[in-house]
Amino acid sequence: MKTTISHIKADIGSLPGHTTVYQPVVDAVDNYVRSNSNGLISDYRISHIGDDIQITMVHTKGADNPEVHELAWNAFKAGTEVAKKVGLYGAGQDLLKDAFSGNIKGMGPGVAELEITPRKAEPFIVYMMDKTEPGAFNYPIYKMFGDPFNTPGLVIDQNMHMGFKFEVWDIYNGKKVYLSLPEDTYDLLALIGSKGKYVIKRVFTKKEHTKLPDENVAVITTDKLSFIAGEYVGKDDPAGIVRIQSGLPANGEALEPFANSYLVSGWMRGSFNGPMMPVGEKDSKMVRFDGPPKVRALGFVMKDGKLNGPVDLFDDVAFDFARNEALQMANYIRKMGVFEPHRLPDEDMEYTALPRILEKLAPKFEKINEKGAKSEMKIER
Ligand code: F6R
Ligand code: MG
Ligand code: MG
Repeated sequence: MKTTISHIKADIGSLPGHTTVYQPVVDAVDNYVRSNSNGLISDYRISHIGDDIQITMVHTKGADNPEVHELAWNAFKAGTEVAKKVGLYGAGQDLLKDAFSGNIKGMGPGVAELEITPRKAEPFIVYMMDKTEPGAFNYPIYKMFGDPFNTPGLVIDQNMHMGFKFEVWDIYNGKKVYLSLPEDTYDLLALIGSKGKYVIKRVFTKKEHTKLPDENVAVITTDKLSFIAGEYVGKDDPAGIVRIQSGLPANGEALEPFANSYLVSGWMRGSFNGPMMPVGEKDSKMVRFDGPPKVRALGFVMKDGKLNGPVDLFDDVAFDFARNEALQMANYIRKMGVFEPHRLPDEDMEYTALPRILEKLAPKFEKINEKGAKSEMKIER
């Protein structure tokens, strides 16, 4: 039977500021889902990274189901009430609409849903990132499903040798394109290297794949909060679901892209490039310059609609190197203050005072006179 994994996340308030979730709020979300899920979902888990609460649900209602979305929406509403009561910072900030209207997409929270035909054993990983954007998944997802130096299964496992199909979204123009790897590798990289504009939305097995014909095997949230609200209301910290094993990337191949740190956009005020750091729950507060951008990976298996797990996969000494590398990169790049490429280019910053500064300085700006400029620069010897 077709089963759907729905992962929905939101920042509904933090302590003290965009840093970490507040346990009573997490509990309120959990309680709401537990008391209202009967007959609707068969299992769920609540988790978090930084200031974002994450709900992973399993059900047979398909993607975009209004009742499932409403359950998550109302759970976040219940959490928001607690957040408001205790005065959490940004209480309810990702709930952009007053009333639920049938689909949680476009209402603030991030959504990733996979409708699948479960295998005998259905292992998968839920990734969650804070202080960055959906394009931060481009590099690791490409490595998992497209790079044989990361995923040797692409070369040596007959069941994945034919490669995978990628669905890429142009998030500015609302368009999508399907690219088939390995044939279209260079086209794919030409797009997704521009991670603020093109994002990997889904990965599919190929039709000719013997085990999983044309199945969706990975999905990433792509909800651009700034586009939804028309103004900045918080970085659209992404999450993703990746199925693993048996003709798909092995668990270790799905974690390997995070064994080294890499640069993403986001961090302080959503306006800086910074290193991605893989962490377990105990290191998932956003403390260094509101970061650094962090990623968690939770490993599950699913059987008959029930979840087992999660395993906190980055909570292990094997990722200490990546964490240290991220710290070194953070120390290095922080020395640049507000200079690019640490600070993002003007058009990509989530906060900018530039328009007002330009307005203020407009009367003082003078036209450059080439000749005059040269004579002023003449150096007396
Ligand atoms: C970035 C983020 C934080 C805030 C920063 C300022 O995604 O959440 O870095 O941007 O803490 O927050 P405000 O403007 O709410 O004071
Ligand atoms: Mg936040
Ligand atoms: Mg966040």
